[in-house]
Amino acid sequence: MKTLSDNLSVSSAGTLLFAGHDTLALAQKYGTPLYLMDEQRIRRNCRTYVNAFKNAFGDRGMPLYAGKAAAFKRIYQIVREEGLGIDVVSAGEIHTALQAGFPLENAYFHSNNKTDADIAYAMECGVGYFVVDNREELDAIDAAAQKAGIRQKLLLRLTPGIDPHTYEAISTGKVDSKFGTAIETGQAEQLVRYALGLRGIELTGFHCHVGSLVFGEDVYQRTADIMLAFIADMQAKYGYTAQQFDIGGGYGVRYTDDDPQLDIARKIAEVAAHMKAAAARLGITLPKILMEPGRSIVADAGLTLYTAGSVKRITGYKNYLSIDGGMTDNPRYALYGSRYTVYAAGRMNETPDLLCDVVGRCCESGDIIQPNVTLPAGVGRGDIIAVCTTGAYNYSMASNYNRLPRPPIVMLDGDRDYVAVRRESLADLTANDL
Ligand code: LLP
Repeated sequence: MKTLSDNLSVSSAGTLLFAGHDTLALAQKYGTPLYLMDEQRIRRNCRTYVNAFKNAFGDRGMPLYAGKAAAFKRIYQIVREEGLGIDVVSAGEIHTALQAGFPLENAYFHSNNKTDADIAYAMECGVGYFVVDNREELDAIDAAAQKAGIRQKLLLRLTPGIDPHTYEAISTGKVDSKFGTAIETGQAEQLVRYALGLRGIELTGFHCHVGSLVFGEDVYQRTADIMLAFIADMQAKYGYTAQQFDIGGGYGVRYTDDDPQLDIARKIAEVAAHMKAAAARLGITLPKILMEPGRSIVADAGLTLYTAGSVKRITGYKNYLSIDGGMTDNPRYALYGSRYTVYAAGRMNETPDLLCDVVGRCCESGDIIQPNVTLPAGVGRGDIIAVCTTGAYNYSMASNYNRLPRPPIVMLDGDRDYVAVRRESLADLTANDL
């Protein structure tokens, strides 16, 4: 049978295998809901970026893992071993990376609203670079750095005015975005001029991020054209040479068979060639190039297992299959209408002939994991249900709504399975209640 990704297969007994492991056995061993992560797939995805960057830019390029896609200690260790830097967005992510022993000189601290406490914490921890959203924030960082007696390296986040044609909620590069400072309005130039006069900071270069789940052919080429033209302009006007240009994250992944398969290595090679030509045309040296993939590092390394509850057949209307998790562990359909591939893990060889909405257990009608799924008609209470491609923005966006404990993360590595994040207990749920 055809499966979505090559870390999915079907055993001779008709059960779903993930990274070579029997999902029914894993559900039995660890309970459900259960996040699984394929460690070798994470490593392979990291290597795709690391090698593509090496081939394209030598030591003048580096991919950063965007931890917002999935942040826990083990993932930072893996990413470190694979030679990526990181993009962090909060004191919590910095703390997690630090706990994992990640060298923070290769950390880039984003966020459109860093608090004074965040800024102080990040400086105390030795975060290498700040990515600054706006002028007020720049002032706050400059003041904190002067107080700490350091010169904080930073990039300015700019909005190039690109619409990557992805979901509105995750599109960020347009001029009217809440993120960054716009090139088009002249405010980016003013910010550069201003930054160059500050004593507490060192302006290392520029950042932009146009959106997430990007499949568009030339989105990064168009982005690079605008950003490199800006960089050349700043050089001509102020004699300022940007050392780094971070083009953000965003490559899309396959959630269903309808999604295209991106050849990321080829994409990076094409973008790199485009950037080099643009730099030559503009008469500038290409800065060190950074990129911040999140989803494309971890999404297809993840799979969630649930246990089915009731199947409700509303005569003449529709069918619902309830599972023992929901928008608490995967809010993406509820938030974005995201598509997913769903299997009945023990019935892979049966004909899928029951049309149903797979819904969660939260007290909310919008708690849908995926509508209009076809599963074998025999599916019912006790069946294991697998939702694929859940490695990105599932655990990291999980909540305790309805006081549901968050599932554990179990890593699969060759023959080995091990817990990277333990299951929350009922006691964890009241741990902060006084
Ligand atoms: N860099 C910046 C500045 C970002 O804002 C993001 C994602 C990334 C990198 C990583 O983008 P990726 O490679 O993962 O597409 N929760 C949404 C996605 C939000 C993306 C936020 N920023 C979802 O579940 O689809």
